[in-house]
Amino acid sequence: MKIVVVGSGSIGSLYGAFLSTIEGNEVVLVGRNPHVAAISTLGLRIQGIMGEHTFHLNAVEDASEIDEADLILLTTKTYDTIPAIKTAKHLIDKGAYVMLIQNGLGTEERVAEELNTTKVLRATTCMGALRIAPGIVDATGCGLTELGSRYPENYDYVLKMTDMLKKCGFDVRASDNIEGVVWTKTLVNCGINPVGALTGFKNGEVYSNPQLRGLVIKLVEEAVAIVKALGIELTTEDPVRYALGTAKATGDNVNSMLQDIQAGKRTEIDSITGEIIRLGKELGIETPSNESVYALIKAIESKYLEDTTAVVTHKPLKVKELVDTVTTT
Ligand code: PAF
Repeated sequence: MKIVVVGSGSIGSLYGAFLSTIEGNEVVLVGRNPHVAAISTLGLRIQGIMGEHTFHLNAVEDASEIDEADLILLTTKTYDTIPAIKTAKHLIDKGAYVMLIQNGLGTEERVAEELNTTKVLRATTCMGALRIAPGIVDATGCGLTELGSRYPENYDYVLKMTDMLKKCGFDVRASDNIEGVVWTKTLVNCGINPVGALTGFKNGEVYSNPQLRGLVIKLVEEAVAIVKALGIELTTEDPVRYALGTAKATGDNVNSMLQDIQAGKRTEIDSITGEIIRLGKELGIETPSNESVYALIKAIESKYLEDTTAVVTHKPLKVKELVDTVTTT
């Protein structure tokens, strides 16, 4: 299988590297310099909890250089989804599947709509990874990858990819309730990520601090009220416990939002907390704690981003659209 990883930062490089270990697979990483240049000259070094390995992979800066692919693995930040996937449009037009491994809400619907394809799979991951230098990725946390698709005709492909990811060492589960999976993960992210990002604490430190644990609980509980109003079936009976359990299990992780702030990059606050606040407003559900952490993260971003208001470049999904999608799958 020819796999093109679009958005080869830490998570994309990690998945791409291990997928290349399956016989018959060819993986091309698409990313930015100096990461891509380091991979091309020295190889991609993965270290940490998945062992020490060097992978010699093709790495390029632009997907338009690639002629064919069976699968596009998209691992960009949520706000880069549409511009990035458009660079692989020629491959999708020829029949390639797309698999998104991302945080946040709504990206798979937007990709399907924008590229006029339903060959779209979505995964969430609790793997932790940190790019510590160009060409070097540290796997810091080992958590579940859950994979599914809103389009039931893709389920055989979901099973095939689940099997392949298991063979290359990931803990993976296929799900026929991907909305529930994505929302469950979003609850984890809305609880842990802003709190870690605002304090500079690793996930385990957020978990061990009673005040911060209390804040995580409030953030998750507000979001759960929205999930209930939307009629979405979560994949856990106890989302608060699940969020705290994830913080503990990924204790050594510098969460992705904290990594972004430390790197002076835009965070994914809009597609996580921002979506929760927006849906809360539409549904008449108050989200005061989420609004507070949102304001604080945006204030930090405004110190280094030129225009923090220009974050939402896509059409927001309305409650009705979300509910329609949920009830038709
Ligand atoms: O965004 C992240 O960092 C991860 O999704 C998680 C699970 C919070 C672990 O750090």
